[in-house]
Amino acid sequence: MLRFAVVGHKATTEPTFSLNDMPGGAGRLDILCRCINSSFFLSHDLRRDVECFLILKGGEQEKTLRFAGETIRSLNPDERSAGALIKKGLTKEATSSFQKAADGIHIRAGGLAELLAEIPFAVLDENGEDIRTAETLPENFLLSDHMNFTEEEMELIKDLPKYSVGPRVLHADHTITILLNEFDRRAAHE
Ligand SMILES: C[S@@+](CC[C@H](N)C(=O)[O-])C[C@H]1O[C@@H](n2cnc3c(N)ncnc32)[C@H](O)[C@@H]1O
Repeated sequence: MLRFAVVGHKATTEPTFSLNDMPGGAGRLDILCRCINSSFFLSHDLRRDVECFLILKGGEQEKTLRFAGETIRSLNPDERSAGALIKKGLTKEATSSFQKAADGIHIRAGGLAELLAEIPFAVLDENGEDIRTAETLPENFLLSDHMNFTEEEMELIKDLPKYSVGPRVLHADHTITILLNEFDRRAAHE
C-alpha cells in the first residue's frame, strides 16, 4: 500500500464551498483535488493500492479525509469530481476516529500530528535523497500544498526521512505522478 498525505493550509473544512470556486473561497482545494487525481488515476483504471490523506487546515477545527483506491466510487478524472467527493466527505461529522462518509472516503477530526502518530511518513522535499538512486523507498509520503510547511509542522517532521523527485520545485500533484512512476518502474523490473 502506498500512501500520500497532503497538507492543505487554507483548505476549507466545511462542505458549503462552491465547486466553481475551489481555488478561491475553498482555500486552494483545487490543488488537493489534483493530488487525489494523481494518486489514483491510470488511463481507464484506478490505482487500487493507494491511499491519499487530505489534511484540511482552513477551518476552526482541522479535519483529515482519507481516500482509499480499493473502495472509492464515482471518482472521475476532473477536479470537480474530486471536489464533489470532498464535499460529500465533509458533510459527515468529524469525530476523533475515522468515520465512513462514502465508499472509499473516511473523515476524522485532527490533522498532521495525529496522522504522524499512527503512520511513519517520509517527506517529499526537493533537497531530500534522490528517489532514482535510493536503494529502497518507503511507502508513505507527506507533501505540502502551495505553501511551505509551517514552523509547527517543521517541528513535527524535522527528523523524518526526506526524498526528492528532482532538483526543481514542482507542484504537489506532479511530484506524486513522478514518484508513482518510479514505483511502477521498480515493480516492472522485479
Ligand atoms: C508547490 S511545492 C510547495 C511550495 C514550496 N514549499 C514553496 O513555497 O516554494 C508542493 C510540494 O511538492 C513537493 N515537492 C515539490 N517539488 C519537489 C521535489 N523536487 N522533490 C520532492 N518533493 C517535491 C513538496 O512536498 C512540496 O511541499
